[in-house]
Order: sequence, then structure tokens, then C-alpha cells
Amino acid sequence: MFEALTQLPQDPILQLMQMFRADTRPDKVDLGVGVYKDDSGNTPIMAAVHEAERRLLESEITKSYVGPAGSAGFNESMARLILGDGSSRIRDGRTSVIQTPGGCGALRMAAEFLRLCQPDTTVWVSTPTWANHMPLLDGAGLNIREYPYLNRETLTVDFSAMLDTLEGARAGDVVLLHGCCHNPSGADLTFDQWQAVTQLIQRKGLLPFVDMAYQGLGEGLEEDAAGLRYLAGQVPEMVVAASCSKNFGLYRERTGALMLISATGATNTAATSQLLSVVRSHYSMPPAHGAAVVESILGDDVLRAEWQLELGGMCERILGLRHAFSDALAPVGDFGFIARQRGMFSFLGITPEQVRRLREEHGIYMLESSRVNVAGLNDRVLPQVASAIRSVM
Ligand code: LMR
Repeated sequence: MFEALTQLPQDPILQLMQMFRADTRPDKVDLGVGVYKDDSGNTPIMAAVHEAERRLLESEITKSYVGPAGSAGFNESMARLILGDGSSRIRDGRTSVIQTPGGCGALRMAAEFLRLCQPDTTVWVSTPTWANHMPLLDGAGLNIREYPYLNRETLTVDFSAMLDTLEGARAGDVVLLHGCCHNPSGADLTFDQWQAVTQLIQRKGLLPFVDMAYQGLGEGLEEDAAGLRYLAGQVPEMVVAASCSKNFGLYRERTGALMLISATGATNTAATSQLLSVVRSHYSMPPAHGAAVVESILGDDVLRAEWQLELGGMCERILGLRHAFSDALAPVGDFGFIARQRGMFSFLGITPEQVRRLREEHGIYMLESSRVNVAGLNDRVLPQVASAIRSVM
């Protein structure tokens, strides 16, 4: 039966990870996969995570099933983290959250749920978007349409093109937005643009679906959620997929959340029951560990403060690197956009051939699209990277 299968090309991000690992050059630099790195190039376990794990190890008394929705405590904490402590959407009982295996699990379960709601659902995604959005949504059978997002010349948001295209969406279509730290471009919507897109969504009867994978790594936990929260306050229904991979550094623990906001509490109860049956038929229940860590941190004032401080430091560090990187590249062009963009990623705007030369001649790894993970830089490698980029330009 397997003989008819042909070999597929690898996912470009995962392939790059593998190539980097196989490279034996000691001065190689990884600006590929989106993981945070500290000054010494390590992806650290956050101190609050360490402490929460220590406490869990002491207090955990069972490994029994958690249930399809995961932990209620984690879900409540995530609702408050995403929507804010005082959110009326939480108070009025129109919001539910389920724990998922990472942000990918949330995205895929949302896609399966949307197909259940309406089998011919069309979802509009930004061009460009995260490479894995397409397989996650398309694999669930959704129709995918694209809206222009980035002006390739200026590497800024082409907002009028985005709105013009979304004017063509039909009532009931879904619009996927990046909550903050747009992946791969780093170009985010301003608050005014969030207001304008909200107006369009309301006027045309579209369903907003927000991917919140980097909360806290753009400008701060509250600032990064401002657009999403505004949108949530205006629309009757909304879907949010959130990830704890980056802001808690829990990548391999696969910890995420899926939020549904519905027009009434009764609708929300029914919708959540459908969502849970989708979960049950896919992976049955999420893994427990990462969510237990997050729940413990968010539920403890001291641990939460420690986590927020460390996350704030990571965010500051990325902002500092953005400025230093754009200054270091100034002799070869205007890279000021890098300093103005947010989150881990920016496009350098160089050609695939230049990207290949950087990898092969200098051991510097980035996606073929020239997406770099700014968080992979540090004071030690920055001059090396900048001079290599200057040499291929
Ligand atoms: C990335 O965009 O590099 C990250 O989100 C990691 C991944 O799974 O692709």
C-alpha cells in the first residue's frame, strides 16, 4: 500500500533546523527557527518555569487523564492573560477556553471546528503568513484565500490593499489575523488599523480568528493584546489560538489554548461541546505538563511577577537587538524597518541566492525568504552577521 507514495519535500523551517544541527562549523549562527535565545545563544528554561516544575514534582499525586478540555485552572488563567483581567467577555459567560497541544493544536482544532460549523468555510490568510498556517487550515478542509499584507518594497503593512481585498469576502468567511509579532514579517497592525479592520469585519459579517503566538515578545503582555482585545469587545463571535511556546519558553511541552467567544452564553456552551467532541476524535486529550506549569505560574503572585520580569527582559533584549542590527546594516542600505518591526522576525529583503551564500560561505542560517529570527543574534555574533550580509549584498 505504501509503494504508491512519493517522497515529500521537508517543511522549510524544520529542514533548516536539521541543516543547522548537521553543520560542524563552530561559528555557525542560527537565525532560522523561531525560538528565543539568550546572550550566549541558549534557549533558556525560564526561572519561574523551573520553580513551577520543582513544585509540581513535589505536589503531583496522579497521572490520571485530564479530559478533552484540559485543566480548568489553566483555561481560566489563559482567558485572563489573553483578554485581560477585567474583560466583560469573560464575565458575561460568552467565552470558553480549552487547553491544546501547542498553538498548532489550537489552530488545527479551530479549523476542524470551523468546518463542522460550515463545511465550505473560507478562511482568508495574510500574504505572507507562517508557513504552517496553510497545511493546518487546508488539512482540515477549509478553503483558503489570501489577502495582501506586506508591501515587498517597503516591508511595511500594505493596509489599503489588505482592506480592499477583504472587501471581497462574503458574510461568514473567516479572517485570520496575527495578534502581534507578525510571522514572518514582524510588521504589525497599528491600533488604528485594528479598529479599521474590526469595522470591516463587523460590516461584512466576517468571523475573526486571531493567532496569538507571541504575546509579550513584541512590546509587552498588555500592549501586544490591545488590538485583539479591542476586536473581542466589538464582535459577537471570535476564535483565538494562543501558544505558550515562546512567552513561557515551553516549546517542546506543546502548550497552547483555543478560545471561542460566542454571541450568548447558551451558544457558547453548545459550541464548546462540539469543539470538545472534535478534540476527542483527534487526540482525545492534551498533554498535561506544560499547562500545569503555566497554571502554577499564573496562579501564584510571586512566580507570575518573576515570569513577567524575565519575559519583559526578553522583549527588551529583542528590541535592543533590532536597533543594533539595523544600525549595523546601515552602511549597505536602509534597514530602519527592522528597528520599527516587532517580535522575533523580519525579512532582510535579500535574494534566495544571497541567503544561500550566507549559509554556505558564512554558516549563517535563515529562511530562503530572508526571514531572520532577530532573537538568534547577540553582541558576539552581530558584527559577524552584519559583515557577512554586507559582503553578499
Ligand atoms: C517558526 O515560525 O519558526 C516557529 O513558529 C517554529 C515553527 O514551528 O515553525
